[in-house]
Amino acid sequence: MTVVTVPVGLGARAYNVLVGPGLLDQAGEQILPFLKSRRVAVVADASVQVLHGARLAASFAKAGIKADVITVPSGEASKSFEQLAILSDQLLALELDRGDLIVAFGGGVIGDLAGFAASIYKRGIDFVQIPTTLLAQVDSSVGGKTAIDTPRGKNLIGAFHQPRLVLADLTVLDSLSDREMRAGFAEVLKYGLLGDASFFEWLEVHTPAVLARETEALAEAVARCVAMKAEIVAEDEREAGRRALLNLGHTFGHALEAEIGFDGALLHGEAVAIGCAQAFRFSVSQGLCSGQDAERASRAIAASGLPTDIADLPGMPFRAERLVHHMAQDKKAEGGRLTFILARAIGDAFTAKDVSSAAIHDFLLTEGAVP
Ligand code: GLY
Repeated sequence: MTVVTVPVGLGARAYNVLVGPGLLDQAGEQILPFLKSRRVAVVADASVQVLHGARLAASFAKAGIKADVITVPSGEASKSFEQLAILSDQLLALELDRGDLIVAFGGGVIGDLAGFAASIYKRGIDFVQIPTTLLAQVDSSVGGKTAIDTPRGKNLIGAFHQPRLVLADLTVLDSLSDREMRAGFAEVLKYGLLGDASFFEWLEVHTPAVLARETEALAEAVARCVAMKAEIVAEDEREAGRRALLNLGHTFGHALEAEIGFDGALLHGEAVAIGCAQAFRFSVSQGLCSGQDAERASRAIAASGLPTDIADLPGMPFRAERLVHHMAQDKKAEGGRLTFILARAIGDAFTAKDVSSAAIHDFLLTEGAVP
């Protein structure tokens, strides 16, 4: 099966996203044209390094590239100031200079952390993304958002720093657990829900094949998401407008994540799945969208084994007031008014800038939250 190349048209900072099987084994030759020296630092998720590090090392060796590997503990906790300081010091100890390059090798946590480190290391050094989760391949590795979390919230400290190249090797997804695969799939559904009804219809049919990691279906799904993201990022790199649509389900979802914590009890994709279903139901409650479309969105989410409702999260009595408080910390909130991505129909999302917290509070009560 061939590799699909999706260009991200950002002028002087344009780059390609390659999607296909076996790209890990071609990483050395693919990255070589971007190197001024034959040297890279690989920032690797510790578990990913155990599973796939040897393939990457062999590929660099074949291309004559010296690759030092820095491993980072798996998990959201690594997106911290502490880990950023450790990583920066490790990069400095390698005496990496601006002609060298950082390779982010892992899921969204590694891409965000290594990408942010690359954006500030000696005032900026090039980096390449090798995303190893479905979520990172279809979303976080493309578009240059990099960040760490603070105790006040997720992704609050960061920078836009575009990679020079993204290599999305579909074979590494075979090592993901079914739960992780489903969580990434929530972001895949998100693309159909926000802007492409025909892709959504395709997903309604092909969900089992994608989740079973059947190569053709998986390649089609990942490439279509990446193409849509590339087009949006090229138009609105800094999220002044249309890029915000990619946050469908995220304001609702982030509030659940903030409430539950980031210890794996609720995966980001699971929170986004509930968030997308809630965004559609809230849109219905505001007379913006038909109930049939909201039900169809929920059916597709549930059919992929993802939660659609806060009641699907056992033992969680959510307080509406606390969820609204978390939503008010969102980067998009301005002057006490909340911004949400809402929907007129499947494939037709829009940004609603002036949502009152009282309306959200009342909606959350109808969703089963307590006052
Ligand atoms: N993950 C949303 C974005 O990149 O804009």
